[in-house]
Amino acid sequence: MPAEYEKEHINDRFTLYHAGGNDNGSVFAEDVIKGLKAKPKTISPKYFYDDKGSELFEKICITPEYYVTRTEASILKEHSAEIAAANSGKNLVVELGSGSSIKTRYILNAFIKNGLPVTYVPIDVSEILIQSGNMLLNDFEGLYVNGIIGEYEQALEIVSEVFPHSKLYVFLGSSIGNFDLPHAEEFLKKISASMNAGDTLLIGFDLVKDEGILNAAYNDEEGVTAEFNLNLIKRINREFNTGIDVNNFEHTAFFNPAKSRIEMHLISKCDQSFSLNGSGEISFKKNETIHTENSYKFTDEMIKELALASGLSITNSWKDKNNYFELCLMTR
Ligand code: AVI
Repeated sequence: MPAEYEKEHINDRFTLYHAGGNDNGSVFAEDVIKGLKAKPKTISPKYFYDDKGSELFEKICITPEYYVTRTEASILKEHSAEIAAANSGKNLVVELGSGSSIKTRYILNAFIKNGLPVTYVPIDVSEILIQSGNMLLNDFEGLYVNGIIGEYEQALEIVSEVFPHSKLYVFLGSSIGNFDLPHAEEFLKKISASMNAGDTLLIGFDLVKDEGILNAAYNDEEGVTAEFNLNLIKRINREFNTGIDVNNFEHTAFFNPAKSRIEMHLISKCDQSFSLNGSGEISFKKNETIHTENSYKFTDEMIKELALASGLSITNSWKDKNNYFELCLMTR
């Protein structure tokens, strides 16, 4: 079946594809009701990223405690020429979950230095992509942007159909860590299936490290991560038109060593109940939580196993000097 999308011409160097095929508003409503009626209660972390949540995530990335973005950027800064060299002849870069595209600038710059005009395909659920696309076009003369607004799965279908040329996929920030391990494998298999021979995937993994550093990164002093987590309750209020008291919930995040992951939850501070869209009572006991995110922290072994299980092989990898983070280049 052909991919469903609407194409919007922004200017001669900027085209936008809006992935179609589902009504995101009603999917959110159904998922939230289902998740809050489940035991234990959960909401998928993909729902963090409405416009407000995407803005808060950008703020998390510059908190002193959240080493992830800064560390990955330092690896990219140091090794982007090698990454471009390992991908010579390609002029198409597709990024899953591009956000503000700040780190990707190192890669684009290195590709452009190779002399070919470069097409960048950022994929994001948020319209943040329009602003960041315009900024890139201002800064890079030899660049064309073809952004896709939509979820990863639909966007991958559009990529296969519209951009069949040889490409580098980029999946940064250890976003793969937000999938449970079986889903991470399933997702990498999907990327692998959409890759042609010679295509590559550059993917970032946050590594297991001192628990104090991990816990601080998800409990920044300024409270930005707490606000990001609590924005889910605000989003529910906005999208269901309800008045759940945000102050009745509290952010918590901790490293679970047995599962090798940070877990984020919203704790109910009291017994409370409410109804969403006439869905019947959703009730909370005091201290009951909504599990809102897992963020897996990887060992080299875990990365190798995941790549192998997904049908990918690691051709190059780079770490920072503290061994906090690893970037891997993979092929089919
Ligand atoms: C996007 N993702 C990789 C972030 C992470 O570290 O798991 C999301 C995040 N959640 C809280 N802080 C950052």
